Amino acid sequence: MLNRFSVKNSSFHYNNLGCYYKLLCNMVAVGFSKSLLKSKRNERHFHTSRYLSQSLVLGIETSCDDTGAAIVDSKGNIIGEALHSQLQTHLEMGGIIPPIARDLHIENISRIVETALQNADLEIKDLSAIAATVKPGMPLSLLVGTHFAKQLCKKSNIPFIPIHHMEAHALTARMVEKVDFPFLVLLASGGHCLLAVANKIDEFLLLGESIDNAPGEVLDKVARRLKLRNLPAFSTLSGGKAIEELAKQGDATAFEFGNQPMYKYNDCSFSFSGLRAKIHRHVEREEKNHNVEADQVLPSAANLCASFQHALFGHICRRLQRGMLYVDMKQMIPEGARKLVVSGGVACNSHFRKYLSIVCAEMGYTLVCPPPKLCTDNGIMIAWNGMEKWTAGVGVAKDIDAIDIEPKATLGINMIEDVRSCNISLKKKGIKLLPKKVKC
Ligand code: KG4
Ligand code: ZN
Repeated sequence: MLNRFSVKNSSFHYNNLGCYYKLLCNMVAVGFSKSLLKSKRNERHFHTSRYLSQSLVLGIETSCDDTGAAIVDSKGNIIGEALHSQLQTHLEMGGIIPPIARDLHIENISRIVETALQNADLEIKDLSAIAATVKPGMPLSLLVGTHFAKQLCKKSNIPFIPIHHMEAHALTARMVEKVDFPFLVLLASGGHCLLAVANKIDEFLLLGESIDNAPGEVLDKVARRLKLRNLPAFSTLSGGKAIEELAKQGDATAFEFGNQPMYKYNDCSFSFSGLRAKIHRHVEREEKNHNVEADQVLPSAANLCASFQHALFGHICRRLQRGMLYVDMKQMIPEGARKLVVSGGVACNSHFRKYLSIVCAEMGYTLVCPPPKLCTDNGIMIAWNGMEKWTAGVGVAKDIDAIDIEPKATLGINMIEDVRSCNISLKKKGIKLLPKKVKC
């Protein structure tokens, strides 16, 4: 659905090249595990033994453009971690090119897993289980982490736990804070936007999701269209982060975005393609008005960023508010214990968090935002999701060979039609997010 996972379509199809990746991953995993498995017992450092009495799970993440690995214990302590971001390469290429992302994962995965284990002062055989993202994500990228993890598990006779990337985002908050089930969760990233009720480790009710693009994907494209990389202070930032920073100098009421996306639909679905088209029209008009040269950044870029953020986050907040009214109507979460967990790269945005805190305060929710490092893709959230499953005894693969990647996978039980059928109107109930004429 979300076109990020097929951007810049190469003529490859992942199935055609399956053997090639298997071969590569086998080579990497075999070479890697030899070096880690051969270390002698008496070489083990003292502090390792502290952890051996409890469960330890290694998590591996390669669903998009970050190669991440981490080891966590059952109390949520991060024992070791490592991350390789491909951001700079993709910024230079003008977007994520799937075969390039795959090659970079292959180049880095062995080193990243090895570094995480070395930081933890652990060996493969000390692990209780290995978890890896198998869905959803870019197929070529998912294959690398999945095959690598499966090979390690088979070679060392360790259980394998396949992980749903969005479930891992949703439950990361439980590692750092006491968040009991059920709770509401909003995920906004470069690949997804969805609202769900988390009932159990492996039970989610999907209230709404994007019908077209993802918010991070659109922020990245808008940043590119505004040529923000040409400003030295923003040249190494993700599109969403660059827009957030520039918007701080802008006026969020400077540009109009007209009607809310999907305002006629009383459901919790999201849509970002219309907003994207509108900002592109604003940018074109502004470029003509200001006669900007090819590489020049518009003098009104800060106002455009602030106004766009307001429109985009305002849309998400309205759909969220309807979701909260639905939860109340159906009594899905007890009053007084209502929490909203947000995650995904876009949830790092401080302006978005401010809007979310306004909605939560009005609707009687406690807002739970994991630290930004845990909101963007990382190995820690995969390790923690693996640990929660390991502890609860759910989702451990019975037959490792039967596990395959699933590039497209929805989250939980689909309640979208039920939400729609409740026809919850926000007329006169819409929460005001911005006073007139303010700076972001
Ligand atoms: O969750 P994530 O690391 O990867 C995906 O699963 O997509 O999210 C990456 C996305 C990118 O689109 C990036 O532009 C956006 O998150 N992002 C932000 C911020 N930091 C990263 N968007 C808005 N504000 C930010 N501070
Ligand atoms: Zn993600």
